[in-house]
Amino acid sequence: MFDPLGELGSLVRAAAVTALGPEFSDVDPQVRRGQHGDAQADLALGLSKRARKAPRAIAESIVAALPPNDLIERAEIAGPGFINFTFASPWLAKAATRLLDDPRLGVPQAATPERVVIDYSAPNVAKEMHVGHLRSTVLGDALARLFEFRGHTVIRQNHIGDWGTPFGMLIEHLIDLDVKVGDASSELALADLSSFYKAARKKFDEDPAFADRSRRRVVALQGGDAETLARWRTLVDISTRYFETVYEALDVTLQRKDVAGESLYNDKLAPLVAELEASGHARENDGALCVFPAGFTNKEGEPLPLIVRKSDGGFGYATTDLAAIRYRLFDLGATRLLYVVGAPQAQHFSMIFTAARELGWLKPSARAEHVAFGSVLGPDRRMLRSREGDAVRLVDLVSEAIARAESVLATKAPDLDAETRAKVGKMVGVGSLKYADLSSDRVKDYVFDVDRMVSFDGNTSGYLQYAYARVRAIFRKVEGSVPVSGSLGPVVLAPAADNDAAARAERALVLNLLALAPAVQIVEDLLEPHRLAGYLYELATSFTSFYEKCPILSSTGELRASRLALAELTARTLSLALGLLGISVPERM
Ligand code: ARG
Repeated sequence: MFDPLGELGSLVRAAAVTALGPEFSDVDPQVRRGQHGDAQADLALGLSKRARKAPRAIAESIVAALPPNDLIERAEIAGPGFINFTFASPWLAKAATRLLDDPRLGVPQAATPERVVIDYSAPNVAKEMHVGHLRSTVLGDALARLFEFRGHTVIRQNHIGDWGTPFGMLIEHLIDLDVKVGDASSELALADLSSFYKAARKKFDEDPAFADRSRRRVVALQGGDAETLARWRTLVDISTRYFETVYEALDVTLQRKDVAGESLYNDKLAPLVAELEASGHARENDGALCVFPAGFTNKEGEPLPLIVRKSDGGFGYATTDLAAIRYRLFDLGATRLLYVVGAPQAQHFSMIFTAARELGWLKPSARAEHVAFGSVLGPDRRMLRSREGDAVRLVDLVSEAIARAESVLATKAPDLDAETRAKVGKMVGVGSLKYADLSSDRVKDYVFDVDRMVSFDGNTSGYLQYAYARVRAIFRKVEGSVPVSGSLGPVVLAPAADNDAAARAERALVLNLLALAPAVQIVEDLLEPHRLAGYLYELATSFTSFYEKCPILSSTGELRASRLALAELTARTLSLALGLLGISVPERM
């Protein structure tokens, strides 16, 4: 075991069972980092009714019943029944020393690996990717990396919007422009996707003949007309290639093979709908065929429909998502389904999940979760828009963040040569963009502020990346004097009673180094990457005070080896955990 809080939790739970009886084996020990001592357990306060004893008496009986162990040096009861714990320094030192030999830095493999489908990014063909897609892409990619690191099988599903009525007008516009695939100059017409889409839309609204052609084109597309399908392919191919360039710029793991767009489900929709109709799960309403999942009503109290077949006979977004959830559960064999999609679609997914449960597809052994996120706001606290009033293009945000990061580096790290600065600028720029997103509570809106984002102070990517680079700089100096191998560890730690600033800083750093596993676990449980970001910020802050109070290079012998080990562990932890968030670390900056 590396995790002292986890270990303490088990000891406290065992003590509660001994003190209060076997029926308390399910109790949550409510263990957390403490103000007084290293940790505290708060369970006694909530147990008095169940145990029919005063909280303080419960706390006393728990302390008395603690099994023999090497972890707890002192347990003290405070206030109405808090238990404050001080850990034994040798336990912590030994655990930290063992971390040096663990490439996973204490994070265990999942006890029951699952097949996890993560639906994320999901931009729309022939449309520009905007900040909403940024959030989905960045959050989803972090979750994908983290779940994989825990040993789950992650199946990425990029549910791109590649089907539907807009394709009629888009294809007609493509024909008008005479775009040929593979011909760079004619593909240029599509380079600016939002203009392409807008131009098609404008013609559709203004030119009745064009609108007419477009509608016929939709019918041809749905009917599988070969020429129409080929044109449609062109649009999808060009867009997909464009998405790939954005993923590459963002250092995102999504690949072409992960594209599973709406069109993937085309030939499943008619049979699905027929089945729903035959089994009585769907019924006619105002000419449309609908499923009414239980518990959803509108303001008037009428049941809300999921429209599975529109009155014109067409299928829509909901039909596709029903086909998709079935495919993910049965064909992909997933037991956990994550949908990283904006909060406005909460009701849609809630209805899809309920319907899937009612249809018997989504069984209690599997779970579907909407990983909802809020909007990205501009400085005026309204939806972020470009100067022209359009949605801001994702690619422009990426280049802006990189440019700003480079200029911060120019002042903060003037010694970097041009090539290194460009490389580090990309890492910090992209890292900042991702970290700003990942470090804020995802369900809340956040204000997009490039200057704050790329700053090296506060809870930012630059601060964490800089902490990493600083450790590497220390080791470059060490390498000049002694070989690093053999000069790392073991970790030694002053007794807990030693209360000077250096001892306190060192202890705080060790406690943080031993807390990566629970930080990862909580992201896996709650799907909230900002908790890992918060952990990293605490780690880096504790490293900063350790670095100020505990001289490394000027210390000698055992102490030097221990401090070097703590610095090395800090760097490894930063690199690993930032990596889980999709952020790389520079060797110097
Ligand atoms: N393409 C959609 C959009 O841009 C998101 C799709 C999300 N995934 C899904 N299975 N519905 O809003």
